[in-house]
Amino acid sequence: MSRLPRALSGAQPTADSYHLGNYIGAFMNWVALQDDFEAFYFIPDMHAITVDYDPAQLAERTYVAAAQMIAAGVDPERSALFVQSHVPEHAQLAWILNGVTGFGEASRMTQFKDKSSKAGTEFASVGLFTYPILMAADILVYQADKVPVGEDQRQHVELTRNLAQRFNHRFGETFTVPEAYIVKETAKIYDLQEPTNKMSGSNPVHTGVVDLTDTPKQAAKKIKSAVTDSETEIRYDVKAKPGVSNLLTIYSVLTGRTIDDLVKAYEGKQYGHLKVDLAEIVGELVGTFGARTRELLDDRGELDRILAAGAARAREVAAPTLDLVYERSGFAKPLGGRP
Ligand code: TRP
Repeated sequence: MSRLPRALSGAQPTADSYHLGNYIGAFMNWVALQDDFEAFYFIPDMHAITVDYDPAQLAERTYVAAAQMIAAGVDPERSALFVQSHVPEHAQLAWILNGVTGFGEASRMTQFKDKSSKAGTEFASVGLFTYPILMAADILVYQADKVPVGEDQRQHVELTRNLAQRFNHRFGETFTVPEAYIVKETAKIYDLQEPTNKMSGSNPVHTGVVDLTDTPKQAAKKIKSAVTDSETEIRYDVKAKPGVSNLLTIYSVLTGRTIDDLVKAYEGKQYGHLKVDLAEIVGELVGTFGARTRELLDDRGELDRILAAGAARAREVAAPTLDLVYERSGFAKPLGGRP
């Protein structure tokens, strides 16, 4: 029986809310992929504990993350939406993959170098170091074909491909070798105050970050105060005009109008016009988005049911993969099967 190809992705619940960059750069793609793929979308809460975090906040952030993914259009009827820690096969497979990962190879992961250089490697957790191996397990346990991620995750998907090929080669055909699906440059959103840096939830200052929990007023204000440049012409030029180009990108993605079309429409107009119009569009988005998210969060019972159904569906695929991996690895079978 032929099946749909599988897409899989996750977004860490490391902030109180996702932001406009996550919405445009990740969730809009996830939603579009649901038509042609059997999709698995999850909240990697086990990745979130590899850096300093507050356990009192994690569950709430996980709920908000799930609600925001649904508000963005992830459809739990069609796609498996679940929490990583609810599916034990991720951690189980990660341990096995640790055994086929070279220490040198893991040491070359640039995200670890970036993240650990802040406090110094001495203080970074071993979990942060092996994080890409858990990520590989997230992907391989579902035999995923396509992994929509940002450019910053390309190296981790590359590692995942290497581990899959190596395991297959050593132990026999087991894993699908996945492909990264990197969002187009035009769907990458930058900080409104520092438009050469990616919009990031970990930025301590949120004047350049539109949170999806912002009120329409707050969001509009952030758009209107976006840093541009000292020229007056509205045109798309990421190098010379990163601020204006970022606004044009956001405008284009949210309305479906092409950048060319927008540039023509704003010919002879000032930056202020563009900002006012875009502020209204973004304000409206966070308004509806926020209302839908709150509605979902107000019914925890329903959200729990959705996540339980998602985890059950995920395990239907993850458990047989892990069984096969255990068998290929040569483990003695416990009486009655793997727990
Ligand atoms: N590491 C990813 C990020 O920070 C999140 C993630 C974890 C992920 N597991 C994944 C993304 C598996 C894609 C597939 O963005």
